[in-house]
Amino acid sequence: MENFASSVGKLTGESTLLYQEIARQVEKKKGIKTINFGIGQPDVVTFSKIRNEAKKALDQGYTAYTPAKGTDELRQRIADFLSEKYGDRIQKEEVIVTPGAKTALFLSFLLYINPGDEVILFDPAFYSYAEVVKLLGGIPVYVNINFDKNKGFYINLEDLSSKISNKTKMIVLNNPHNPTGMVFTPKEIIQIQEIAKEKNIILVSDEIYDYFIYEGEMRSVLQDSSWRDYVLYINGFSKTFTMTGWRLGYVVAKKEIIDKMGILASNIYTCATSFAQKGAVAAFDSFDDVKEMISMFKHRRDVMYEQLSKIKGIKVFKSPGTFYMFPEVSEISNKVGGVKNLSVKIIEEAGVITVPGEVFPLEVGKNFIRLSFAINEDKIIEGVNRMKEVIEKLS
Ligand SMILES: Cc1ncc(COP(=O)(O)O)c(C=O)c1O
Repeated sequence: MENFASSVGKLTGESTLLYQEIARQVEKKKGIKTINFGIGQPDVVTFSKIRNEAKKALDQGYTAYTPAKGTDELRQRIADFLSEKYGDRIQKEEVIVTPGAKTALFLSFLLYINPGDEVILFDPAFYSYAEVVKLLGGIPVYVNINFDKNKGFYINLEDLSSKISNKTKMIVLNNPHNPTGMVFTPKEIIQIQEIAKEKNIILVSDEIYDYFIYEGEMRSVLQDSSWRDYVLYINGFSKTFTMTGWRLGYVVAKKEIIDKMGILASNIYTCATSFAQKGAVAAFDSFDDVKEMISMFKHRRDVMYEQLSKIKGIKVFKSPGTFYMFPEVSEISNKVGGVKNLSVKIIEEAGVITVPGEVFPLEVGKNFIRLSFAINEDKIIEGVNRMKEVIEKLS
């Protein structure tokens, strides 16, 4: 039974989970409580308005299939919300609701990538972009994100232009960016959009962290009035409304694309969960809760930055977005044979989970580790202090 399809054979899963397994063993062996900086979700329960609407829907027996593209009610709410935010008249026919942003991304890739097509990804990047591109026979082509301790993370547009060939089908953008915490400048976004339009390349823009902005200006690709010609906009409810387990995301694109995605949806998963969609309608009335959460995260970010800055051998930039910090640790990791070994050492000796940057997924991350500040302040202080002891012994 192990003669799996060759396309699936090489696929890898979320390796951050591996480190959680090592942590469990350390907890058992040493009897210490581990601190998890590997986490990719807010530590806040879904806001009450949303939970109440879903409960009400369940109690009213709202348990059947919905249309493949999502309920009219939720699609309309998303369309109205984005129209108001970005000043365009987005129609509900231009929205499909999916089980999580991951599925939204999967449908986008499935719809366009033929074997041999090149897809431009930034390095580092969210691990599953490259995996799915390769699953479909596409070829990831990487554009490096550069790091400067004083300037933070940044790209060179010339690097992007130089990677475009006549096989380039798609550019995948993630803004704000996991794992670096960078927010692309409005100018960079406009320039990337110009390149995509000029070269006739599809631009997939994953903006799932769009509310996690602490400094700088977030420009959405939907702010270009000609987005319908080349953009697939991805977002979801997981992060902003702390709904990771509800599995709800969406794509905004021109109607013809959404219709095709609806056909894929009906063949793959039929629809997103009915009562979860009811709850999600109330998400758009929960921005007071979102605001409160974001200001708490900003404080945690400041605390984590301050603590990390005290560790010798680490170069850290205060993330303007997301809930991740991505310090450069090569001075230390070189002494133990790389960031994977460093992460394992930090778990084994300090009981602290971090994510080695090379899981994102290629070269640039090899000098970095990712820490999430989606946990409480006391744990941030204790966790970084425990890391400091291990690291200072190494340096
Ligand atoms: C950049 C990025 N895109 C998409 C996702 C997936 O989100 P969802 O839970 O909606 O599938 C994540 C989750 O970690 C992410 O970091």
